[in-house]
Amino acid sequence: MSTVYNELYQKNRDYLWNPFTQMKDYLADDPVIIDRAQGRKLMDVEGREYWDGVSSVWLNVHGHRVPELDEAIRKQLDKVSHSTLLGMANVPAILLAEQLVKIAPPGLQKVFYSDSGAEAVEIALKMAFQYWRNIGRPEKNTFLTMKEAYHGDTIGAVSVGAIDMFHSTYTTLLFPSLKLPYPNVYRNPFSVHTPSEVMERSLAQVQDVMAEQCGQLAAVIVEPVQGAGGMVPMPEGYLRELRRLCDDYDVLLIVDEVATGFGRTGKMFACEHDGVTPDILTVAKGITGGYLPIAATLATNRIYDAFYADYDQLKTLYHGHSYTGNQLGCAVALANLELFQSSWLLEHAAHIADHASERLRAFWELDHVGDVRQKGLMIGIELVEDKACAKPYPWQQRTGVKVARRCRELGMLLRPLTDVIVFMPPLATTVEELDAMLDILYRAIVDVTQQI
Ligand SMILES: Cc1ncc(COP(=O)(O)O)c(C=O)c1O
Repeated sequence: MSTVYNELYQKNRDYLWNPFTQMKDYLADDPVIIDRAQGRKLMDVEGREYWDGVSSVWLNVHGHRVPELDEAIRKQLDKVSHSTLLGMANVPAILLAEQLVKIAPPGLQKVFYSDSGAEAVEIALKMAFQYWRNIGRPEKNTFLTMKEAYHGDTIGAVSVGAIDMFHSTYTTLLFPSLKLPYPNVYRNPFSVHTPSEVMERSLAQVQDVMAEQCGQLAAVIVEPVQGAGGMVPMPEGYLRELRRLCDDYDVLLIVDEVATGFGRTGKMFACEHDGVTPDILTVAKGITGGYLPIAATLATNRIYDAFYADYDQLKTLYHGHSYTGNQLGCAVALANLELFQSSWLLEHAAHIADHASERLRAFWELDHVGDVRQKGLMIGIELVEDKACAKPYPWQQRTGVKVARRCRELGMLLRPLTDVIVFMPPLATTVEELDAMLDILYRAIVDVTQQI
């Protein structure tokens, strides 16, 4: 390793605490220290190149150092980097809100900014909770969520999350929420295996809970594809039925598209697959093309109007962050949306996703690949010890981590979810680039699973 690397490594050891990272393992394994990037590749300080196989954790869209996006930030820098949105406005925040409303599912009319997906979720929860108070129904104060849900790491978002490994430590800090199984076709508690059976059983449970408890339910919160829960798409039509149940029982629907938004599943928003408009929609990650931390919570006028009142009624949404509506972030988000259109990115991503699904057939044949799940360019490959009975590897064996480590040796950076190998390349990835990435992934899975 070079002197530069060794010095940075030592400073990382001395000063930096990395997120979602067991520092003992991390420091023992020559961490990658990124220096620069170009297109779909990241480069470390040693000059080694890696494919960005998970879009820098699910957010990169066009690749790195995209001239149009770089230019948008430079232009905005020449005007102003940041001024507050509390009680005043700024140009790119207004223009971006307009664009978001134009591309969002119809009926979502108002945009409330924040800086991360978790904050967008916090805001969604507070909006839903306060909505019922503001209209005189404070008893509707409970949330229904799904097992294995992930909505971010702040306390409200964790309260509607349900991944034991991440969340159980904090149980006593959390507000209670109702949790029902996600309609997971590969692993579900109903012992059924077709999407329609899973959907039927799961919706029946939702209906039972709503019938009994709709008087206390403020909202259901759901991911159209469970991301951190293992890259699990919901069956087609499920969200539509969930919307119908919410309408029937007067429960708000919050759809968390932090991971699925901005073309990731093949449509601009995953809700569009089922023609659904939620009452509240959360977005982040891809909104800026993966450049800067902007997030947003979109709401219908039904929600907004419940907060629009004389000041002394105290119906204001008392929420905001110092950097809410940051100009640099909003400017690059606007450029990102323009580039979606001018580069026909959704069409390109659909083509790439089709190519990926062709290539993924070969993965199905592997002895330790139990399931391959795909929605657009959101892909999860679940590795199992015994394919016949879907028996997982012991989690302590860290098979997924070993595959990611092997990918790193072969020139691609990935981050698994236990033994689900996540593959989420930037949407602008070319066919040739995708092939190169999938060649590495295939080889890494073979190498690791044959050794175990
Ligand atoms: C569905 C979903 N919601 C919320 C979040 C949290 O987003 P952030 O990491 O920007 O706080 C994530 C992050 O992966 C996510 O996948």
